[in-house]
Amino acid sequence: MSNIENQQGRLQAQDPELAGLLQREDRRQSSTLTLIASENHCSAAVREACSSRLTDKYAEGYPGRRYYGGCEVADAVEDLARQRALRLFAGAEEANVQPHSGTTANLSALLALAGPNGRIVGMMLKAGGHLSHGHDKSHTGIVFQARQYGAGPDGRIDLDEVRKLVREHQPKVLIAGGSSYCRNIDYAAFAAIAKEAGALLLADIAHPAGLMAAGVVPSPIGIADVVTMTTHKTLRGPRGGMILARKDVAKAIHSSVFPGSQGGPLVHTIAAKAVAFGEALLPGFRAYQQKVLDNARHLAACLMAHGLDIVTGGTDNHIVLVDLRKTDVTGAQVEERALAAGLSVNKNAIPGDPRPPMVTSGLRLGTPAVTTRGFGREQIETVAGVIVGLVRGAAPEKFRPVVSGLGEAFPLP
Ligand SMILES: Cc1ncc(COP(=O)(O)O)c(C=O)c1O
Repeated sequence: MSNIENQQGRLQAQDPELAGLLQREDRRQSSTLTLIASENHCSAAVREACSSRLTDKYAEGYPGRRYYGGCEVADAVEDLARQRALRLFAGAEEANVQPHSGTTANLSALLALAGPNGRIVGMMLKAGGHLSHGHDKSHTGIVFQARQYGAGPDGRIDLDEVRKLVREHQPKVLIAGGSSYCRNIDYAAFAAIAKEAGALLLADIAHPAGLMAAGVVPSPIGIADVVTMTTHKTLRGPRGGMILARKDVAKAIHSSVFPGSQGGPLVHTIAAKAVAFGEALLPGFRAYQQKVLDNARHLAACLMAHGLDIVTGGTDNHIVLVDLRKTDVTGAQVEERALAAGLSVNKNAIPGDPRPPMVTSGLRLGTPAVTTRGFGREQIETVAGVIVGLVRGAAPEKFRPVVSGLGEAFPLP
């Protein structure tokens, strides 16, 4: 019996109510197919590290410079995570593995580089950016003087617009990266635009981090001054964040994470990050990421062959953004129908979306989680058929058997 099963046995005996909820979530994940682009299924080893006794340990500070005693194991764990991160993202100079999340990573990095009330430029949420890139509902839109660039009518970043905005606003930090942007970003062009204005470039690779670590899409390492990411999306680790930085800005970043933005690090999560980075350094990881990419391209091609519009007409990564404007359904309606059919997807704004964020005209799909379960072209074709059927108004229940069948045939790791 594994450590995790053992622990589940104890939880079941002590707190059947909560244990029941965890079992329900296991069943939910097994019996539905996750096509949410920001989700994945991490390994049992990652989950075991997450549930380790390291959760008990306070370790404020950094390895060798802690504010608590008894940190020798925490130090070794954090050093291992940092070393593996630097091997995985070769060319990066320093790594901070403490951010609790992608948002904390961004906030810490921006406070270090721009300072309170500093000027920043990022991509609009509607165009594919993230809330933490200066959206007015995020602290990054309140604490900083933020301006945002959109996407062109073709759904792609318009570098001329970015250049114009940067020249006008003269930011300290220019942010490149997003949550629903499905095309490669020209980081060298972004770096040139930043340099001209004396700004630093922050690349947020939360979404494509795994694809970049595996070298299947171009990466900003060695180009951007600072790179932030989450560890739980394509990277397939535990929920958390990480920052890579050039040596000359690293000191400011470290103190902005701790003591600036966080207290004690989540050492158990850092251990799980180390496990995930170790997995990502194994040869099979590249094949997995290539499959994520191939599956996303195939999904986009299948949906287009069935007559659906895809923002930018395809994808360069794991994200496929469906434009529903020519259909008679909204993103929210398809999300609900998909859930009833057993597909976990999310409604998403598309560039120029006429509908509000809780309705939207888009559907964001992603292939990391189903590829972890072993999906290939054939299963992607089946999934595309289900999505098209749902958009066209077929009863969701009709698809439940086929979706459950796929879930049983391709179990969770
Ligand atoms: C580009 C980008 N940055 C930051 C984040 C924030 O990550 P978290 O949800 O861990 O705060 C996300 C999450 O979706 C993201 O897509």
